[in-house]
Amino acid sequence: MTKLRLGINIDHVATVRNARGEGYPDPVRAAEIALAAGADGITAHLREDRRHISDADIDALALITKRRGRPLNLEMAVTREMEAIALAHRPHAACLVPERREEVTTEGGLDVAGGHNTIAPVVARLAGAGIRVSCFVDPDLSQVAAASACGAQVVELHTGAYCQAVRERAPGAETLLETLKSAAREARRLGLEVHAGHGIDYETVKPIAAIPEFRELNIGHFLIGEAIFIGLGPAIQRMRALMDQARASSGELAEAMQR
Ligand code: PXP
Repeated sequence: MTKLRLGINIDHVATVRNARGEGYPDPVRAAEIALAAGADGITAHLREDRRHISDADIDALALITKRRGRPLNLEMAVTREMEAIALAHRPHAACLVPERREEVTTEGGLDVAGGHNTIAPVVARLAGAGIRVSCFVDPDLSQVAAASACGAQVVELHTGAYCQAVRERAPGAETLLETLKSAAREARRLGLEVHAGHGIDYETVKPIAAIPEFRELNIGHFLIGEAIFIGLGPAIQRMRALMDQARASSGELAEAMQR
């Protein structure tokens, strides 16, 4: 089975820094530690209100990821301002996300189906600059199809509803996992690379990592929280190990079923 990449979202290191208006903790230092601990790339969301990551953070993250030859995945709203920033930096990847100022975090996927005429030209301009463009969507077949239709190379499936259901021990969790699986299959069928992210913790990472279509997971908030107790490097290493275990056992299962 293909290796699953791990992107570490370092936004909430900046949240802690900004809570006191100090220069620490530094998200760039977190990115260095994450890469040393086995992260394949760094993800950061420059929000329109700059509530966590700042423009200067993006400048510095672009520099260190380039220097280390590792991918930077810029999460961004579909706005002129963000497009200009992405085009100026040309990160390895850009993930288009919805953004509402009043939300605590990215609460749902991007409505690519409803926003095709606005989103498709942005995808084309970013892709034309050599940026791998992804759309962050709910695991909904029509949104997956819309991501493909707007020219994105990648779709990132929103795992938030599933992860929350697992944490709350809600009865619908298994159904939500099945929904993720069918959206992932449909995305692959359409030729998209498939990623997943939002709300993933040590418990939910295994069933998610076992979905063979996924090529990359983007994980942030839980790991930054866990870092308070065990350190960022060890938290990432543990997450990486759980992903690898899940991947290995689902690969063995698939082989056994073919025999
Ligand atoms: N992927 C996307 C597109 C996101 O918007 C976020 C949250 O910023 C994540 C992944 C990471 O989610 P979490 O911080 O809950 O792990």
